[in-house]
Amino acid sequence: MKPKVYIAAEVPKEVEEYIGKHCEYRKWDSEEIIPYERLRDEIKDSEGLILFLRNVDSKLLEMAPNLKVVSNVSVGYNNFDIAAMRERNIMGTNTPFVLNETVADLVFGLIISAARRIPELDHYVRRGLWTGEGDKQFYGADVHHTTLGIIGMGRIGEEIARRGKLGFNMDVQYYNRNRKIETEKNLGVRFAEMEELLKSSDFVVLMTPLNPHTEKLMGRNEFSLMKKTAFFINASRGGTVDENALIDALKSQSIAGAGLDVYAEEPVAPDNPLLKMNNVVLLPHIGTATYRTSFDMAMLAAHNLVKALYGERPPNLVKELEVCFKGK
Ligand code: GLV
Repeated sequence: MKPKVYIAAEVPKEVEEYIGKHCEYRKWDSEEIIPYERLRDEIKDSEGLILFLRNVDSKLLEMAPNLKVVSNVSVGYNNFDIAAMRERNIMGTNTPFVLNETVADLVFGLIISAARRIPELDHYVRRGLWTGEGDKQFYGADVHHTTLGIIGMGRIGEEIARRGKLGFNMDVQYYNRNRKIETEKNLGVRFAEMEELLKSSDFVVLMTPLNPHTEKLMGRNEFSLMKKTAFFINASRGGTVDENALIDALKSQSIAGAGLDVYAEEPVAPDNPLLKMNNVVLLPHIGTATYRTSFDMAMLAAHNLVKALYGERPPNLVKELEVCFKGK
């Protein structure tokens, strides 16, 4: 008998077919992210779950006594309650590597958009306000030959560093819990303590995973250390930032601007003050959202799921849940 699976994320047809070859499956048929309560109802007999951005906590796991693996269609796995999953021996997997360059590209999209005010000036043209000569009112900040500070030098951080260094002649510094000597040598980037990085960067990019060490890593104190002319970019998770502190820094112009792909609450509430601000570029969590990368992520998630359900080590079992793998 094939293992029973629930597909709670949107996946391409080819991925669904691949899962169907190996598993008996049901799926969530909507572009909306599945409501948590609905998910609880759907997974009662599931052994495997394909998931995007929903929390896996003990309340959810209680409802799924047969569950063996949760396969995230994302590299981030802050949605996993690691203790609850360990307690029930449930494996969790993610989709690293295939998205590194796609996210790094988007980070540069945010950097350039914020520095050169692209969305704001796009609206200006569309509203028919461009009547005179272009002049100082359109000025922004340079990106090339400035200092880029990357907080979190993982695989995506490295791709951002490479783009900054080779594409934009930037001076690149990074902060990471562990120094990356090889990366320093290969890319010509340097390590800086967090405080020094914040004080001296023209663009501060936050690219750390969200975990108990990085929750609200950027708060009032950190924003106050940044230059008045600097921009803050976040494409990691909203939880890594104290969003109220960021809003205050933008309002008081103690930093020049921001580019955000992630928020404390997603989707962003319509009364979030960020929506009214000109000095911030806002995207709806699209770091990995290209056709090719989202296909690759979904296929990788499907491979992880099938391997785990057939007793093999899934290639992207997250390190905190290695202990839940009982096969060879
Ligand atoms: C996207 O946010 C991801 O974690 O893959």
